[in-house]
Amino acid sequence: MRSLIDILDLKTEEIDELIARADDIIEHPEAYRDICRYKKLATLFFEPSTRTRLSFEAAMYELGGQVLGFSEAASSSSAKGESVSDTVRAVSCYADIIAMRHPKEGAPLVASMAASIPVINAGDGGHNHPTQTLTDLLTIHRTKGHFDNLVVGLCGDLKFGRTVHSLITALSRYSGIKFVLISPEELRLPDYVKQDVLTEKGLDWEETTSLEDAMPKLDILYMTRVQRERFFNEEDYLRLRDSYILTPEKLQTAKKDLTIMHPLPRVNEISTAVDTDPRACYFQQVLFGKYIRMALILKLLEL
Ligand code: NCD
Repeated sequence: MRSLIDILDLKTEEIDELIARADDIIEHPEAYRDICRYKKLATLFFEPSTRTRLSFEAAMYELGGQVLGFSEAASSSSAKGESVSDTVRAVSCYADIIAMRHPKEGAPLVASMAASIPVINAGDGGHNHPTQTLTDLLTIHRTKGHFDNLVVGLCGDLKFGRTVHSLITALSRYSGIKFVLISPEELRLPDYVKQDVLTEKGLDWEETTSLEDAMPKLDILYMTRVQRERFFNEEDYLRLRDSYILTPEKLQTAKKDLTIMHPLPRVNEISTAVDTDPRACYFQQVLFGKYIRMALILKLLEL
């Protein structure tokens, strides 16, 4: 019985297999319509989410399975003081697989140790978000056709943005990738990610505060939201929230085949005027998220 807590729980070949399965699902959706019949997914969301939860639910329904769960901590027994371990032990009696989001780093790992069914980390605090990373990898693969030798710009809140941490970790396994880390000084990538991933693997990376300077060299531009809920004071958030706003003007120096991504939700960091640019891939990315979660559910259920 396998869980997915960290993107490194999957070998590179397994990620390739998931991408190939997602491609097959996109080509032949009818072949998958009943494959999860009588299987149940429990979505245990202790923190608000629209996209990720609905993406998991849509994925399970499209596989012919069923869904149960809750979408906020207040409507679960954790409001009565129940531990995560006890919650998942109980849920293991009702469902076949769990997707869990939690504001505390490490909670899905604890859950996976107590559960007797697979647990998928659907985001733990400012730590990791492996299924968003699978979504991002499928998006990159479908737009670029490969992962090697790309210049990947990550822009915005690199400190608290868990999707950024997981994506850098995943891409660090491919060759010739260069990272351009674009953020205000206060929201730089945490040292632990720099040391454990970038330095440890001898990767090529640079840090800048200027999106304009970075733009011409990028193959991928991954924009992120300033993570208001992780700030200790509102003043800092208000000062930093509009540090970067992507506009059509700023894209004038970008490559013609740039892929613009964003895990969503967007606040202000991409002007809606960019949405019609053919390089804007963030809504396609949402759709790819459903397909890769379908592939992941099948893998963990060994179907
Ligand atoms: C991200 C998340 O929850 O970390 N969103 C998502 O999964 N679609 C990014 C964010 O909330 O800014």
